[in-house]
Amino acid sequence: MKTIALVFGGKSPEHEISVRSAKNILAAVDRNLFQVLPIGIDPNGVWRLTDTDTLGAFVPDNGPALALVPGVNHNKIIRLDNQTPLQDPDAVLLILHGPQGEDGTVQGLLRIMDLPFIGPDVLGSAVCMDKDFAKRLLKEAGLSVAKGYVFGDHQKDALDYETLVAELGSPIFIKPANMGSSVGVHKVKDAADFEQAIADAFQYDRKIIIEEMIYGREVECAVLGNEAPQASVIGEVITAEEYSFDAKYVSATAAQTRIPAALQSGQMEALQQTAIKAYQALGCEVLSRVDMFLTDQGNIYVNEINTLPGFTSISMYPQLWEHDGLAYSDLITRLLELAMARHQKRGALKTQRIG
Ligand SMILES: Nc1ncnc2c1ncn2[C@@H]1O[C@H](COP(=O)(O)OP(=O)(O)O)[C@@H](O)[C@H]1O
Ligand SMILES: [Mg+2]
Repeated sequence: MKTIALVFGGKSPEHEISVRSAKNILAAVDRNLFQVLPIGIDPNGVWRLTDTDTLGAFVPDNGPALALVPGVNHNKIIRLDNQTPLQDPDAVLLILHGPQGEDGTVQGLLRIMDLPFIGPDVLGSAVCMDKDFAKRLLKEAGLSVAKGYVFGDHQKDALDYETLVAELGSPIFIKPANMGSSVGVHKVKDAADFEQAIADAFQYDRKIIIEEMIYGREVECAVLGNEAPQASVIGEVITAEEYSFDAKYVSATAAQTRIPAALQSGQMEALQQTAIKAYQALGCEVLSRVDMFLTDQGNIYVNEINTLPGFTSISMYPQLWEHDGLAYSDLITRLLELAMARHQKRGALKTQRIG
């Protein structure tokens, strides 16, 4: 029996989505193989042993706070209230979204703690979180991405709507470089909305991207694996309203998904190949969801890669694998196996120049 630390919540606008995913995972983890140590990160960023029986939408700020001890082989996690160590986890099931979850920071902490974790490593996580760097690497791999420009907060005053529209057409998309779940994302059709959209995007990051609109269907592929990743069937997201955080996660008319997406012959394979190419170009491992646009002409654009995608039982990533015959609970087991396999390989590397 292995012990799994389920780490969820986090200091992120996507806290609630993470808690929802965690509840579904708790209900589905194979209890013959794993016992679960629930570690919630409260909205202030404090790691706490969390009572999941009474868990609401947020990690409460009253569970015992935890301290991590780098460098030790045992008793890595200590309860601060009574100084007792928790059972050492064999792996960490990370289910955090957005900054300080998917961006390499937690991954770095877990590397220092010498604990296996699901999702790409430090570099892959950081690169996928940063839409600017991700697009540069995707382009370098020969994949198409929306044309766009990057601006730092020191360049705010130089931003000119008319110049951008002349280059990119209208509408344009404005988004923080590092964020997720459509937070801070704006579709701008006129100069009046421009200033406000810029100001909002800069609330979430010191760097924003402004890009052309791609007219296409939104299709997604679940990729799973380390050295030889596999691509799932392709799914489609259909939003009735304008895309938005609410449309995707809150409102009753939330986005509908279609699995598999209705595609012409050859398109499924082309999208799967693009997904794998993107996954490898950005240094992904264990899992990631590759989001793409498919235009009427059949052109494929990579929009973004989510390295710790939504993981409720009705989320796209697990649903795509479910369609391909890999059940939710078996998928969780597979992710943990991949995390441990990567960790074992790294553990076999020399860390000192001896002999
Ligand atoms: N260049 C674009 N063209 C068309 N739609 C876009 C574009 N960029 C973003 N969108 C829309 O906005 C949504 C959120 O943007 P995305 O880049 O995926 O950011 P997030 O990381 O917040 O999910 C997308 O799912 C898509 O509906
Ligand atoms: Mg997205």
